[in-house]
Amino acid sequence: MYAQTYGSTVLGINGQLITVEVDIANGIPALDIVGLPDTAVKESRERVRAAIKNAGFEFPAKRITVNLAPADLRKDGSGLDLPIALGILAASGQLSPDVCAACVFIAELSLEGRLRPVPGVLPTLLACKAAGKDKIIVAPENGREALLAGEVSIYAPETLGELVLHLNGERPLGPLIPGIDTTSTETDGDDFSEVQGQFIAKRAIEIAAAGGHNILMVGPPGSGKTMLARRITSILPSMSREEALEVTKISSVAGQLKGNTGLVRSRPFRHPHHTISAAGMIGGGSIPRPGEVTLSHNGVLFLDELPEFPRQVLEVLRQPLEDGHVTIARANASFQYPASFMLVAAMNPCPCGYLTDPQRSCTCTQSDIRRYIKKISGPLLDRIDIHIHVPRLQYSELTAHAPTESSASIRSRVEAARLIQRERLKSSGKMCNAHMSHKEVKKFCQLSPVARSLMQDAFHKMNLSARGFDRILKVARTIADLEAAATVCENHIAEAIQFRSAEEIISW
Ligand SMILES: Nc1ncnc2c1ncn2[C@@H]1O[C@H](COP(=O)(O)OP(=O)(O)OP(=O)(O)O)[C@@H](O)[C@H]1O
Ligand SMILES: [Mg+2]
Repeated sequence: MYAQTYGSTVLGINGQLITVEVDIANGIPALDIVGLPDTAVKESRERVRAAIKNAGFEFPAKRITVNLAPADLRKDGSGLDLPIALGILAASGQLSPDVCAACVFIAELSLEGRLRPVPGVLPTLLACKAAGKDKIIVAPENGREALLAGEVSIYAPETLGELVLHLNGERPLGPLIPGIDTTSTETDGDDFSEVQGQFIAKRAIEIAAAGGHNILMVGPPGSGKTMLARRITSILPSMSREEALEVTKISSVAGQLKGNTGLVRSRPFRHPHHTISAAGMIGGGSIPRPGEVTLSHNGVLFLDELPEFPRQVLEVLRQPLEDGHVTIARANASFQYPASFMLVAAMNPCPCGYLTDPQRSCTCTQSDIRRYIKKISGPLLDRIDIHIHVPRLQYSELTAHAPTESSASIRSRVEAARLIQRERLKSSGKMCNAHMSHKEVKKFCQLSPVARSLMQDAFHKMNLSARGFDRILKVARTIADLEAAATVCENHIAEAIQFRSAEEIISW
């Protein structure tokens, strides 16, 4: 007897519809799964056998062959348990093959026969929808996430027994009904109004947020670098539905959508510890998982104490910083993960931290400082558009009770500037100035004559690379956008150049 049904697997952050074919023939009892299954899929044999028996069905004592098509694609994860079990039930006459072939099944099975949630349900659902499948069965814990795909009927039975009764029409279940999305865009309460003084740093952060620029903060201990960085997502514009869907897909694949949540609406803020490995940063592993660069897609990747990160971990950032994605090659497949994030880095100017402090003297030797700074390579620094010094606060600044500007008020300016950028870059689908190509920089960063001569001076004096030159123009464009100015003028260029003087902040 033969039966066919459908399941799904995850490739990178996208889903792939899988056809599950089951053939039952006379012979020595066995269950073989072919079609490049990984370890979790191979283990599904034992789960499926136990689940079928414990749910009160008969496990055929015959030779069973399961083929997962397309056969040349590696199948990951435990989500194929359910379609394999139903394929066996249909091929052995315990379920109508027609109803079985009309649905897609995505769930792991417990030995008892319960449906268990799996990661990556949203991307797999989107793939099913694209393939024209409109009836999907998932575990109850995945129900709310599955509804995000929209325009498909989702059923979420508790057990295999309940599902078979539904499919046979004996006890039909109703499809899940989308509730009101109650997830809010509010962040967890960190606000710029709590930061006293630091006007230059705040201005630089506003510019960075407005144009999506990378930023490096250098300053003595306790000057507020970490405090400032943690508040950056509170001034970033809210995500569009497409951006939110992408972020939710990534969280789903990474198994981080806890507690049956809906669409992720707040921009990610990732702050990996400096003991992270290169694979943890970029993604990969034997079962490929997105790394920190992908988890911070559409949000902020914050590297605190930058020189403490191993050099090879910092070097792997170069590709995603340039391309906005990472490619992970495996023996049987290569995946592309999105990785378009704003890099925010913080560091002390030297190991003791007080090199730039006018009140305290630095106790480091020149070679200590050189060793400390050397970890950050020139090419990485070249990819950071804004470098600022965050000085220690004066007593009067710290104790001032003057109200400082709130995140909401800064965000309204950032949003206005982003709107101008989106409109200007709409033909290429880019969201902000930081992502402009060289051609776009040439086209959109028209300078006034005085600004042009200022730029020429800076090029020679600062020994700028071609990339550094473009990056100053992009920052100047953002500063002009914050003022809604059409042309980039000398004051915009002058401010952008000021933010590029890492050499003065860090003594090389
Ligand atoms: N501008 C400020 N306004 C109000 N409080 C501040 C400010 N700067 C620092 N603080 C206080 O000092 C604490 C330490 O700041 P933070 O951890 O951000 O310093 P840091 O620059 O990251 O230091 P380190 O280099 O040691 O990591 C903050 O939690 C906050 O309470
Ligand atoms: Mg800190």
